[in-house]
Amino acid sequence: MEHGSAREPPGTRDILERWLAVVVATPGLTALRDLREARRVLLDDALAGVDLVARLAGPVVDVGSGGGTPGIPLAAALPDRPVTLLEAERRKCEFLGRWTVELPNLRVVWGRAEEQPLETYGVAVAKALANPPTAAEWCLPLVREGGAVVLWVGPSAERERVAGAAARIAGALEDSPAGFLLIRKVGPTPPGFPRRPGMARKRPLA
Ligand SMILES: C[S@@+](CC[C@H](N)C(=O)[O-])C[C@H]1O[C@@H](n2cnc3c(N)ncnc32)[C@H](O)[C@@H]1O
Repeated sequence: MEHGSAREPPGTRDILERWLAVVVATPGLTALRDLREARRVLLDDALAGVDLVARLAGPVVDVGSGGGTPGIPLAAALPDRPVTLLEAERRKCEFLGRWTVELPNLRVVWGRAEEQPLETYGVAVAKALANPPTAAEWCLPLVREGGAVVLWVGPSAERERVAGAAARIAGALEDSPAGFLLIRKVGPTPPGFPRRPGMARKRPLA
């Protein structure tokens, strides 16, 4: 969705601009201090994924939401889709919880991806969560069979490594628009996953 496009529900721009300003002004949520740069990275990049997520069915979880991106822009742009912000740091969750008043389709869960109920969501999204193979390992168990993981990635993302890691957890890398990796969940989560907290970073699958 373009910022300010015909698809944008009424009030969306106002909520997102206020959210962005508070994120930039709140210590510990982002290193970005320039509002224009923050808009590009935290808001416009998130909104670039709206059409991709809209094509995928089911509730959405934003894993490692931090200050709320991409989950808050997605929740604002897709008001009919339940969006969960999953975040490991309690203080960030307290900040995120304030926005559930403005966006009724939003909820916040404090916890680690590796410790959540399995196969609960249709789509798991993540931006700047971890390196892409680790992010894929954390996200895939949260998604039911037939659902998908959408990772926001930079140009240096190694598709083969991500595909290798995903294949271990019933994930198949599909054709993806530039800036994203789309991984389909093609079977049930295999035994042994999710691995215990810390393992995905310590011993990457690929
Ligand atoms: C670099 S920040 C990115 C935040 C946001 N997605 C963004 O693009 O600005 C990564 C966030 O993921 C959270 N995180 C790291 N590992 C996690 C895990 N296993 N489960 C849930 N959250 C996690 C961290 O607490 C942190 O807030």
